[in-house]
Amino acid sequence: MFERDDSRVIEPFREMLLSWYRDHQRDLPWRKTRDPYAVLVAEVLLHQTRQVGAEGLAPRASDLEALPGIGPYTAAAVASIAFGEPVAVVDGNVRRVLARIFAQADPHPRWLQETAQALLFQGDPGRWNQALMELGATVCTPRSPRCVLCPIALFCEGKDDAERYPASRVRRQRGVHAAALALRGQRGGFVLEKRNGQALGGLGGVPVR
Ligand code: ADE
Repeated sequence: MFERDDSRVIEPFREMLLSWYRDHQRDLPWRKTRDPYAVLVAEVLLHQTRQVGAEGLAPRASDLEALPGIGPYTAAAVASIAFGEPVAVVDGNVRRVLARIFAQADPHPRWLQETAQALLFQGDPGRWNQALMELGATVCTPRSPRCVLCPIALFCEGKDDAERYPASRVRRQRGVHAAALALRGQRGGFVLEKRNGQALGGLGGVPVR
């Protein structure tokens, strides 16, 4: 198995991913700039988080993360791409790539962050993070991953059965509650009350507790 702190393996692994990224990256507008604001806007949109105005934007991931609506992955993406901070991004694409490389069906978030951090290419953290995200977005896709085109298949333990990793999350079934109640009043009518709350609030309805 590929040990994440074995430098004899990590170095060729990094080289292969980075050279693939150099040759195959998509021509996307935010890759032409290191302007922090442009990178922030692109990453917020790409990671589908809510957008906020921020005055005096600070470079560190931990400062960015304190802004409402910016999750740890968006903060790490901006800090590494715009400011070169050595902090690993773990978004959905990176989670899938790492789960497959290490054949982990249900990787723990702490393991993911530590593994991504151990693999991070310190020479250009922003480029490295984008290379891993790009691989997840274009080759190591959730369905029908294109392992024959993958630059790091050699290092990937999960490649023969890639769709098993990570296992799909079991959706907890929402409880279904049905209730019906009718109270017959003394003079033959039905008892109604004015409803509170979001569901049909303000309308008359049978008492429900
Ligand atoms: N997904 C989110 N940000 C990305 C980036 N900078 N490159 C590739 N995929 C991404």
